[in-house]
Amino acid sequence: MRKQIAAANWKMNLTLQQAETLMDELIATPHELNENQEAVFGVPFPYLISIKNKLAGKKNAFVAAQNCYDKKSGAYTGEVSAEMLKSIAVDYVILGHSERREYFNESHAMLAAKIDICFANGLKPIFCCGEPLAIREADTQNSFVETQLKESLFHLTAEQLTGFVIAYEPIWAIGTGKTASNEQAQEMHAHIRSVMANQYGAAVADSISILYGGSVKANNAKDIFGQPDVDGGLVGGASLVAADFAVIINSLK
Ligand code: PGA
Repeated sequence: MRKQIAAANWKMNLTLQQAETLMDELIATPHELNENQEAVFGVPFPYLISIKNKLAGKKNAFVAAQNCYDKKSGAYTGEVSAEMLKSIAVDYVILGHSERREYFNESHAMLAAKIDICFANGLKPIFCCGEPLAIREADTQNSFVETQLKESLFHLTAEQLTGFVIAYEPIWAIGTGKTASNEQAQEMHAHIRSVMANQYGAAVADSISILYGGSVKANNAKDIFGQPDVDGGLVGGASLVAADFAVIINSLK
């Protein structure tokens, strides 16, 4: 059975002191993860070591970087490599978030290269995809997302994609309080799974965890995660409140 994952995306929020307090509060708030469930914390680079240490000994709880560079090492001032992340025992790397595609011009090809370098260093990518409002309004979201998948993932092997993690985040639902309906989420997640099945076969597609992102809150997580092809969520705003994120973790199937 594929993994069910509650992934926090703290984005560029919190001081170290606030981040540590948030994690302490969350650890103190009752929440439970069974063997098939994971909590992943996508925290700013400077806090990865500290938050990783706080999670030491906690079952099925992992840290994620929010990005990495696509080059091995060298004269790239200000960038962080996959090898550096590996050296501090980071588990996951969020790649291709719509904010990075939009503000930092991350292309399909660059994301393909970032995924490769993560795999080369034993890091697990969380690959984000999703359409802007205009594409949804034109009802062309399926082909839009299909292109994102094809261009950045289809060079990978079936083995690499077995147990892979994709996050579908419709841009119009991110930080807007406007969640995709359960039906809209399920429809797109099923589409993503069928795109992967057509290329790699049903067994690979069925092993992929597809997370939904975009205004997941404590009060809607259970419904969204309850959809058959939704395997948890990538959560921004609500992951900054310990009590809310604990409820979201407890809403996993
Ligand atoms: P949100 O962000 O939960 O605040 O909408 C989700 C994301 O961008 O990952």
